[in-house]
Amino acid sequence: METTHRVHAADARDLTLPDESVALAVTSPPYPMVELWDDLFADLSADAADALAAGDGEAAFAAMHAVLDEVWAELARVLRPGGIACINVGDATRTLERFRVYPNHSRILDTFVELGFDPLPGVLWRKPANSAAKFMGSGMVPSNAYVTLEHEHILVLRKGARRSFPAGDDRRYESAYFWEERNRWFSDVWTDIRGRLQDLPDDGRRDRAAAFPFAVPYRLINMFSVYGDRVLDPFWGTGTTTLAAMVAGRDSVGYELDEAFLDAFEARAGDLPGLSRRVVDRRLDAHREFVADRRDAGETLGYEAEHYDFPVRTKQERQIRLRTAETVERVGAPGDIEGSDADLAYRVQY
Ligand SMILES: C[S@@+](CC[C@H](N)C(=O)[O-])C[C@H]1O[C@@H](n2cnc3c(N)ncnc32)[C@H](O)[C@@H]1O
Repeated sequence: METTHRVHAADARDLTLPDESVALAVTSPPYPMVELWDDLFADLSADAADALAAGDGEAAFAAMHAVLDEVWAELARVLRPGGIACINVGDATRTLERFRVYPNHSRILDTFVELGFDPLPGVLWRKPANSAAKFMGSGMVPSNAYVTLEHEHILVLRKGARRSFPAGDDRRYESAYFWEERNRWFSDVWTDIRGRLQDLPDDGRRDRAAAFPFAVPYRLINMFSVYGDRVLDPFWGTGTTTLAAMVAGRDSVGYELDEAFLDAFEARAGDLPGLSRRVVDRRLDAHREFVADRRDAGETLGYEAEHYDFPVRTKQERQIRLRTAETVERVGAPGDIEGSDADLAYRVQY
């Protein structure tokens, strides 16, 4: 099996992709009203710059979301019918006139509903926070303290009716996940996500990038796409979605304004075969442990996996097949991958 991956150093408000050409979008935009992104929004929107300069929080919030709205409209255009958009976003707290919360997640949800999407149950993932410092300034007396935001939202939105697949579609059944993974992944609260990316140097790049942990896009890609699908991330950042798509065996395409991030991706991609083996081994080992625990509890799992030496719980898991990336090749000239004018492109063999 082979997958291809393309990244454009370009503005996602104009996606250079044909209509209905991606199956899934997994992304995390710059969060409006989080100070880290003020300059970016001010560069992209004179209204946002003016509102920030005037200290008008409501107008700044509206102007920043107007920028994101243009990307969401493009995303809606390139997503296939039945395709899914997973948007990871946190709300912001900020004091301009007064302290308040800026509800990014509900503002984005409204846009997608206006674009005709059906909102599906989403996920809250909890960022690891372990220090009492997070309550600093809140004091011990009522009533003027604030609750700390410790979670982010993953909005799950579908374009139109659910996808249909031909009966007995092998690709779909090979893309299955384990029963016990289903039970964790399809829960609406994720508390087992580690917050930091382990593979980015801690030289400030992690903070500047506001990268999400690998497990977030990796799970979502496994949950909402099949082998052969193409995954889009219009706010590519350090390329975590592409890395997850490479490991999950899906094609990907990304857009990123900051070219420095494209250069930095080479090192992450170089480690792909090792990362892929670790991720796949961890999933297979966890399943073997699950099988052993059930056996100890006196339960025999009813089906044999066709590609492995272990049983599985349900009929739907029988063809499960976790691919391992063997080689990753940087594709040099634009156009080497058919139809691609990308600034960065890779081909991965499994
Ligand atoms: C929250 S970060 C994404 C982090 C990414 N999920 C990761 O794991 O590294 C948002 C990214 O979107 C980029 N960006 C913002 N507006 C953009 C636009 N209009 N087109 C393309 N990229 C944009 C920013 O430069 C930033 O790198």
